[in-house]
Amino acid sequence: MYYNWKEQTNTEELKIVCNLIRNGELVIFPTETVYGIGANALDPLAVGKIFVAKGRPSDNPLIVHIADKRKIEEVAQDISPIEQKLIDNFMPGPFTLILKRKDNIPDIVTAGLETVAIRMPSNIIARGIITFSGVPIAAPSANISGKPSGTKIEDIRKELEGKVSAIVDGGETEIGIESTVVKVINDVPVILRPGKITPEDIKKVVGNVRIDKKVFEEINDSENVESPGMKYKHYAPESPCKLINCEDELDQIFYINKFVKEYDNKAVVIGFSEHKERIFTKDNNFIDIGSKDDLDNIAKNIYSALRKADALKPPVIFIEGVKKQGIGIAIMNRLMRTCEYNIFEK
Ligand code: TXA
Ligand code: MG
Repeated sequence: MYYNWKEQTNTEELKIVCNLIRNGELVIFPTETVYGIGANALDPLAVGKIFVAKGRPSDNPLIVHIADKRKIEEVAQDISPIEQKLIDNFMPGPFTLILKRKDNIPDIVTAGLETVAIRMPSNIIARGIITFSGVPIAAPSANISGKPSGTKIEDIRKELEGKVSAIVDGGETEIGIESTVVKVINDVPVILRPGKITPEDIKKVVGNVRIDKKVFEEINDSENVESPGMKYKHYAPESPCKLINCEDELDQIFYINKFVKEYDNKAVVIGFSEHKERIFTKDNNFIDIGSKDDLDNIAKNIYSALRKADALKPPVIFIEGVKKQGIGIAIMNRLMRTCEYNIFEK
């Protein structure tokens, strides 16, 4: 069933949706980052359906969503003072913390790890569904594994309809890029996946922070990584993509035009508003992701732009790189994977 709660949550429908969760069914719902596909995290059969619906590898663990901080100790234990500080400062919000798990969390959720990822969304629809379901909700991003995450229902409806029992439409998600994933290792918060909560934000609160080196590195399949999700192909359209990231703006425009021409102008470019008139593709083949200086807006638009580009079935998609600062770190982390590390830099 499709439920439209863009304007307002419908309380009768909320009861139906929460019953579905309690009965082991899957529900797509909005969070402030991206849409999630949720199931009762305490029910291994329900969680198993998520892996089937997404075609997700079983060694990639899920995030457990809660709506009340008191619930953290029901699923996690031995919380250190630094972890507590992170919880106090960044929850609710676009932040996920890896904690030592308790045994009531089924192995399928954590992919057998001794840790569990916990997130408390701030989105009111997400919070309503978690609260009234009365159970923690395991939810990965709503997309077929490997594809860009869903930030609007229109983008993912075709892909996932028929695989879930309910779709809750809360409009476009606010942030557009998944939560920052952090694990405290030897008392240092380590960012395993960058997001809206930046390294500077974390440093301000606990004094130090590290970015896992895999955030900007290519990962070999057989490697042992802190966050299993980092090793899989991700955020990728069907068409091959190439990231163009020149320091000098004139170079940037010159090389994009040169590459586009090599494809008889049939390439699609995902680029900045400022470059729209200076990059020569056929009319629809320039997808505007907004001003180069507004990284929050680019984060919000990027997954939808990738899907839009892919729908044109071009031979190649060229994507403009952004500054690796603030949320730009997260955007570049996603785009490098989108492009499977196919990057032109100058
Ligand atoms: O914003 C978000 O985080 C969204 C919304 C729906 O909440 N969810 C999301 O889930 O992005 P997913 O499954 O697409 O990404 C979860 C990431 C994966 O990279 C996974 O490997 C990592 O978190 N992860 C989960 N549990 C972990 C654990 N115990 N240790 C290390 N990494 C973990
Ligand atoms: Mg995902």
